[in-house]
Amino acid sequence: MKIFKNKTDLIAHVDQLKSEEKTLGFVPTMGALHQGHASLIIEGLKHNTSVVVSIFVNPTQFDNQEDLIKYPRTLDSDVALLKDISEERIIVYAPTVEDIYGAEVSSNSFSYDGLEHEMEGKFRDGHFDGVGTIVKRLFEIVRPDNSYFGEKDFQQLMIIKKLVEKYQIPVKVNGCKIYRAKDGLAMSSRNTRLKPEYRAAAPFIYKTLKTAKEKFGTKSANMVTEWVEKEFAKHELLELEYFIIADAKTLKTVKRKSNKKAYRAFIAVYADDIRLIDNIALN
Ligand code: PAJ
Repeated sequence: MKIFKNKTDLIAHVDQLKSEEKTLGFVPTMGALHQGHASLIIEGLKHNTSVVVSIFVNPTQFDNQEDLIKYPRTLDSDVALLKDISEERIIVYAPTVEDIYGAEVSSNSFSYDGLEHEMEGKFRDGHFDGVGTIVKRLFEIVRPDNSYFGEKDFQQLMIIKKLVEKYQIPVKVNGCKIYRAKDGLAMSSRNTRLKPEYRAAAPFIYKTLKTAKEKFGTKSANMVTEWVEKEFAKHELLELEYFIIADAKTLKTVKRKSNKKAYRAFIAVYADDIRLIDNIALN
């Protein structure tokens, strides 16, 4: 498997593939790879000759320095997982911070027509500027035909689609379903940091989302939101940061339901000091 640590070598390799008219898929990640990441890569392999997987813990998208420091970095096992998927058709780009940012580790600011002001944008200051900065740079280096992002980070997926539209970047952005553990917990690199009792409690998040979906069939968004807030207030280990029912296109919190619109519920929960997010389509 080809593993590139710097962009100059990767760019030369991509040039070569392009001259052979190969199609290129791209899955950006921060590593600590799991089955959720694998599902995106497998989807990419179905539709492209090769798939570039970037592994880079992007410092500019972390609003919490401790989260950045503690973010798992497991390049050897990541490479092993990728080799199991495909040694020949996966290309790894695992750059240093300097390769991406040079001497100045800072983000550019982006407007995503208001998508950035909701949910994760409200609770994680500067997060989507950091995400926009890194993904735009990676698109410019990798120049993929197709890219794959998980609905696990639904707001991020919408923001990347907006970024591509605004900057007219020639890449297709594909959304992929949330991959869950057997007990329903959405796979996340942060799950490995959960202490056993918190890992055991965490499936409550998806269970509550599913019941919220059922209730949304007959009850108002406000009633469902209050119910979820009460459920978490009773919970001894999990602390709710937000539960929001939003328009799936604008991501604005729903005030009055309309039959013509698609809605989604979004949740962020603290399990000890680990922040978990999830979401579900409601109709
Ligand atoms: P990371 O959290 O590593 O996720 C990389 C990609 O995998 C994202 O598109 C994310 O939505 C997807 N993903 C994670 N868990 C998933 C799951 N359980 N099911 C389906 N897809 C899942 O998201 C990032 O990294 C970064 O913000 C990044 C885009 C790489 C920019 O730094």
